[in-house]
Amino acid sequence: MPCAALARRRATARRDPSMTSPPKQVKTLILGAGAAGMMCAAHAGPGTLVIDHAKAPGEKIRISGGGRCNFTNLHTEAENFLGENPHFPKSALSRYTQWDFIDLVDRHGIAWHEKTLGQLFCDRSAKDIIALLRDEMDRAGADLWLEAEPGEITHADGLFRVEITQGGTPRTVIAEALVLATGGKSIPKMGATGLAYRIAAHFGHRVTETRPALVPLTFDETRKAAFADLPGTAVDTRITCNGASFDEAMLFTHRGLSGPAVLQISSYWREGDSLSVCLRPNLDLFAHLRARRAEAGGKALSTVVSEILPRKLALHLSAKLGVSGNLADQSDAALRALTDQLTRWELTPTSSEGYRTAEVTLGGVATDRISSRTMESAHLPGLYIIGEALDVTGWLGGYNFQWAWSSGVAAGRAI
Ligand code: FDA
Repeated sequence: MPCAALARRRATARRDPSMTSPPKQVKTLILGAGAAGMMCAAHAGPGTLVIDHAKAPGEKIRISGGGRCNFTNLHTEAENFLGENPHFPKSALSRYTQWDFIDLVDRHGIAWHEKTLGQLFCDRSAKDIIALLRDEMDRAGADLWLEAEPGEITHADGLFRVEITQGGTPRTVIAEALVLATGGKSIPKMGATGLAYRIAAHFGHRVTETRPALVPLTFDETRKAAFADLPGTAVDTRITCNGASFDEAMLFTHRGLSGPAVLQISSYWREGDSLSVCLRPNLDLFAHLRARRAEAGGKALSTVVSEILPRKLALHLSAKLGVSGNLADQSDAALRALTDQLTRWELTPTSSEGYRTAEVTLGGVATDRISSRTMESAHLPGLYIIGEALDVTGWLGGYNFQWAWSSGVAAGRAI
């Protein structure tokens, strides 16, 4: 057909869906070409189509782990996840483990290293993980449509009918199985829409309260002013809130608090809660202060605080706590009181940076009507929900990708 005629036909088709190409029939339609969707496609067998509204697949993988993708954690267990049902992740995590994914990474010749606390990163680039998934999808014969937005979804006679717009052109896909893998709400700028929640709710699923998680916490103006001397200061801490505790670094920022310990505890923190911060948790502070008094009693107590903590923080706290005098002047009770202040420092953030910077969404599609073995809906056979869209939220450190791999494989194998 000549170009002008083709353009006219396309323009008409946009206005009149009956003029579009006939519906495409597939066995499996996966919405979302992120970590979970691509992994599912690699296991779902022939006749799989993955669609995504982004220009490229796996955009979050690309930016993850500072561009090196913390793709799993050696210590992954169900205990590293939050959700209404703490047992739900067990089955999928045990059927496709961190060792299975490491094996896959090795088979693709991707070099990796352990950074800290069992967190595995690519030596080179997160793009290696995207290439691995694309390769596995190709091997499985899965198709990928990009810049494709799903519209109306209906279900009748055991088949899903999904209206899709791709590059302005309407298309219809008929599928035996529909997989929701569009993730959560975090980082809307990167295309996060919460679409899976709306589709799941449409088919009768409950969606639990969702909140930004693994996110920096912020102070109001008064508290920001009180900590104005500290942005850029990092310190080893144990942060405790609502029964959870993490031993990692805390960082003061211009907005409030960040660093791994704060991101971790943000999943447990609620507005109004205080964080209990233990500075230098691996040091017996009271014993240390007494030992320093015995060997260097002439030293100023504030100098000894500077030996233990970063300089700016030591100055800040010494002024705030009225630290004065030499070590020799301090009674055991005074050293004990100082120890208590440094190990039970109460900090009260006002808010969080929200979905704009949150690594994940806490909450999601409730797991009570989802099979923990296959991720299939108990309301509607043929509907599967995987990855971050579910009410399964991992700690910081590669756990969320492991959940994407394990839940994606669980659904893919079952379809
Ligand atoms: P994911 O968000 O990956 O994919 C969803 C896909 O659906 C996207 O491709 C999106 O474009 C598409 N989509 C959404 N709405 C759509 C719509 N309406 N129509 C069509 N397509 C739609 N985790 C970890 O374990 N290690 C790490 O190093 C990091 N690092 C990290 C850094 C940053 C900055 C962020 C934001 C997050 C992380 N994470 C992480 C978390 C990790 O990225 C996240 O848990 C997984 O990507 C979730 O995988 P899913 O496939 O479920 O969703």
